[in-house]
Amino acid sequence: MAKAYEIFDHTHDVVVVGAGGAGLRATLGLAEAGLKTACVTKVFPTRSHTVAAQGGISAALGNMGEDDWRWHAYDTVKGSDWLGDQDAIEFMTREAPSAVVELEHYGVPFSRTEDGKIYQRPFGGMTTKFGEGIAQRTCAAADRTGHAMLHTLYQQSLRHRAEFFIEYFAIDLMMDDGACRGVVAWNLEDGTIHRFRAKMVILATGGYGRAYFSCTGAHTVTGDGGGMVLRAGLPLQDMEFVQFHPTGIYGAGCLITEGVRGEGGYLTNSEGERFMERYAPSAKDLASRDVVSRAMTIEIREGRGVGEKRDHIHLHLEHLDPELIHQRLPGIAETARIFAGVDVTREPIPVLPTCHYNMGGIPTRYTGEVVTLKNGKKEEVVPGLMAIGEAACVSVHGANRLGSNSLLDLVVFGRAAAKRCAEIIKPGEPHPPLPVDADERALSRLDRLRHADGGTPTAVLREEMQRTMQDHAAVFRTGESLDEGMTKLSNAWEKRQDLRVTDRSMIWNSDLVETLELDNLMYQAMVTMASAANREESRGAHAREDFPERDDEKWLKHTVSWCDESGRVRFAYRPVHLEPLTNEIQSFPPKARVY
Ligand code: FUM
Repeated sequence: MAKAYEIFDHTHDVVVVGAGGAGLRATLGLAEAGLKTACVTKVFPTRSHTVAAQGGISAALGNMGEDDWRWHAYDTVKGSDWLGDQDAIEFMTREAPSAVVELEHYGVPFSRTEDGKIYQRPFGGMTTKFGEGIAQRTCAAADRTGHAMLHTLYQQSLRHRAEFFIEYFAIDLMMDDGACRGVVAWNLEDGTIHRFRAKMVILATGGYGRAYFSCTGAHTVTGDGGGMVLRAGLPLQDMEFVQFHPTGIYGAGCLITEGVRGEGGYLTNSEGERFMERYAPSAKDLASRDVVSRAMTIEIREGRGVGEKRDHIHLHLEHLDPELIHQRLPGIAETARIFAGVDVTREPIPVLPTCHYNMGGIPTRYTGEVVTLKNGKKEEVVPGLMAIGEAACVSVHGANRLGSNSLLDLVVFGRAAAKRCAEIIKPGEPHPPLPVDADERALSRLDRLRHADGGTPTAVLREEMQRTMQDHAAVFRTGESLDEGMTKLSNAWEKRQDLRVTDRSMIWNSDLVETLELDNLMYQAMVTMASAANREESRGAHAREDFPERDDEKWLKHTVSWCDESGRVRFAYRPVHLEPLTNEIQSFPPKARVY
């Protein structure tokens, strides 16, 4: 098989897969630490999906009112509906101020207050004094924060001479007796195959939002790391928890930042009512995303949606000062004009809850090290493998992520993974020999899909999966609908045997890239649907109409799931870490969420 391809070998201390915010922050830290580092990415780094993050990055800097990282920790635990691990949450929120100031020093052009400090806006679920007041905690570069961060981190990585392999598609991990030894990638530009040998592979491959029909993620958001992990026989965690952002543009799906509501924007139904006052009397439009998305869905279902079909909701900014929109929200004004034909200074934006973020992912410790459960029971670190960012499940977001905690997660855990590598890897130390067939699994998969000559085009199967996910695993779920979704997905899984790829070339073969991506998405769609059917309670973003209550007695635990080649999903569980990391903060025992 290998002879059919031109193969090049590379040896590095660490290989990072993905060049979004997490991948670049890790790459920079590794290069700074003197580790020979390769960053392998399927898109040019500044085109990674972090570029689309708008509203900001949370950190209790206290620039615009009193703040404390412990309040941030409490909000994150509460936002997670108590499924977040409190040791990891302590780590993230405590590290947040230094991680953001470090970004400022690297050169991120944050917006400024009158007295020159980093500007911070309110975001959903971010409070002061353990829920008493509204915190201004989200540090923003207008509404293009991800764009600003990504460009800065890429420039800093180049400054530290990190090696980039751009437009290389990672196909599969090279595993040896349970340890990861590297990754096989395809150079899209010249069609060659590359074996990257490393003492540590860090997966920073993002979420799998494109498993859904309507999502705020780019077409490249296909969860390639999650697919590789499942195929390596390792599990994913908490895949039933999928976040729907309340304000995707109706029809197009593009994100309209929560920062709009942070700056004073609000939602109305067909009666012109600010309905969030009924659902969350205290937090109103700034309740956490799961709460707002459910409220919008109920309004639409009960006939109070807007538009001809009464199938969406209005988001208003017309009352805001145009100068504020110009300064703080220029990006969304442009997006609304292009994708909804709306002048935001005069008319409301039509919006709808849209798939935005995966709380689940590759289970890790807060150091970035991937863990698995041996025989479904004993927790073990997977040697040679880390995961960070949306690809990972640390778990700091639990059942629901708070807005602006994602950019924070990227930089805090990107930095932590680099530090951990610097502790455990000696630069330049020799590698053990690779098994002779280390690339066999990756290459036979590539070959099978490249020559697939069935009757089902990739785009057709992808749409079948996306519509099934959209119809059966969205904001509200029932056992019956999830079971039906599982049957439809299993049928789609069978059709993988009947795929048709028409382009057989190895140079910029987008047909084959999309097929490899679809395969990654389908693995994760299977575990998402199965995990959602399995969890018989409502928690965070997982709202079961047939089990409307949170059930801490039975379900205060993480779902760990495997998916084999036949599409069979099996489960085990990990306990939620309710204890903090240090005695600088108390533990927050589970209680009912009130808004
Ligand atoms: O609404 C937003 O700006 C999105 C932010 C986030 O998902 O953290």
